[in-house]
Amino acid sequence: MSLAGLFLITFLLVHLGLNLTLLFDKSREVFNLAAHFMATNPLIKVFEVVLFGGILIHIFWGITLFFQNRAARPQQYYVGNNSQQSVFSKYMIHTGVIILAFLVLHLMDFWFKAKFIGGMPEVSIDGKTYEDMGLLVVEKFKNPIFASIYVGFLLLLGFHLDHAFQSALQSIGINHSKYTPFFKAFSRILAIIITVGFIAIPVVVYFTF
Ligand code: HEM
Repeated sequence: MSLAGLFLITFLLVHLGLNLTLLFDKSREVFNLAAHFMATNPLIKVFEVVLFGGILIHIFWGITLFFQNRAARPQQYYVGNNSQQSVFSKYMIHTGVIILAFLVLHLMDFWFKAKFIGGMPEVSIDGKTYEDMGLLVVEKFKNPIFASIYVGFLLLLGFHLDHAFQSALQSIGINHSKYTPFFKAFSRILAIIITVGFIAIPVVVYFTF
């Protein structure tokens, strides 16, 4: 579960980097060329299968661990938990399920439409025709309801990630009392970068495009 989670964090960083090009290049050319590359490169197609496999493994083990933990302690403690756990770490399964709902909505919005529904807007770049995936994103986020829904879900993703990285390192055995505070801080910084980066996209598109 941890390895799948670390792999998903890597995907998120790449996904964020590509999506941010939309904000810096309003012609959407860089974004559309990158989206085209991602959709057609054979190596990326293999990666896509691994990605969806990673998502399924992560979800399966997350739910299994949740129920195993509950079965191991059917009654809750009377005394509240005063450990060093962060607030968000107690709600990993809850934020995880909400992120799954987000992912379904998100894939329907873009990926599913491009792959299976069709009718994508098109754009010509250097005489070649490409799908205008960037326009789809911009149109989506010009709608205040969609932009707000994305911001809400992305905040929850941030809470999930706040605990994720350091927890994954601990699970795969990279654990030392001396370094734990460093991993915790790094996990938080990573969560903030990913969350703020993704949230910037609907917000900037809504207000400035
Ligand atoms: C504002 C934020 C985001 C934007 C604008 C965005 C945009 C997009 C677009 C345009 C696609 C379709 C790309 C293509 O098929 O070529 C896509 C695919 C995808 N997105 Fe996002 N995304 C965002 C956030 C997220 C987040 C937070 C997650 C994960 C929790 C995520 C997971 C995915 C996945 C799994 C795919 C399918 C990847 C593939 O198979 O190529 N996205 N996204």
